[in-house]
Amino acid sequence: MWASNQFFFEFRKHLPRLRWTDYRESQAKPPLALVPHGFPEEMAYKMRDQSFRLSLLYYSILKQIEPSHFESPRRFLDLGSRDFSYAVGLAVWAKEIGTDSIKVCGLELDPYQTYWNGRKRKEVGLYHASLASSLSDQAGVELNVAYEAGDWLTWNPPSQFDVITHLFPFLFEDLHQGFGLPMRSFSPLEYYAKSIQAAGQGMVFFHQGRKEARESKAILSQLGGGRIVQAFKVQENPYLERKFPIEVLVWKKSEDFEQ
Ligand SMILES: C[S@@+](CC[C@H](N)C(=O)[O-])C[C@H]1O[C@@H](n2cnc3c(N)ncnc32)[C@H](O)[C@@H]1O
Repeated sequence: MWASNQFFFEFRKHLPRLRWTDYRESQAKPPLALVPHGFPEEMAYKMRDQSFRLSLLYYSILKQIEPSHFESPRRFLDLGSRDFSYAVGLAVWAKEIGTDSIKVCGLELDPYQTYWNGRKRKEVGLYHASLASSLSDQAGVELNVAYEAGDWLTWNPPSQFDVITHLFPFLFEDLHQGFGLPMRSFSPLEYYAKSIQAAGQGMVFFHQGRKEARESKAILSQLGGGRIVQAFKVQENPYLERKFPIEVLVWKKSEDFEQ
């Protein structure tokens, strides 16, 4: 599987996009009854039902994080963003806890996947990043949301970040492999170690079920540099059906952390 993942990854990386019109999403009947106060409901008309619900779900979870864990953060990095269809939810939260000119960057190893509709994952990611950036005007703060292709293990961050979000990172080899990703990009220990270095203030993790959360805690405790300051579980939600509860960890960097 190792070699074939590597081969197909390189293959799809060089496969050109199949459609040249701009990618767009829209929705005839948005689930407006589910929109919490303060969330820009007009975004519903620019997203598929699934994307809008995902944004609402992630926002509703992020909102449960005690804002005092972070101090006016401005630079956010989301690692492993897939097609970033939750970018709006993440950006609304960043806007609420952040200040002034906020930058959110989503980084994805495999934006080269082609979807059933002939669109590349990257087209979808860029669309959601631009939707999220368009929230700037209403917010009265500048919000700059980007979607980048790259492997976190080798990517050169253009700057430091205040907060890093890891929303369902792959911690087990079988999952990473099963999604057709190259094994040279899989090393949870290095992945976390680099994140600890790069996160100026702290990190947020979403995990699928207890086993993943336990593994994540074990890596964090092995690496040190900070501590988990909040942990909670989201069992049920009104937005999207999920097989497993979502385990959330909030990690804060030690003030005496040495680079
Ligand atoms: C389980 S998915 C989570 C996607 C997304 N955060 C979400 O909540 O829908 C994990 C993602 O991490 C990406 N990934 C895995 N290893 C990576 C790496 N080394 N650098 C960047 N992204 C990576 C995968 O391609 C995949 O899209």
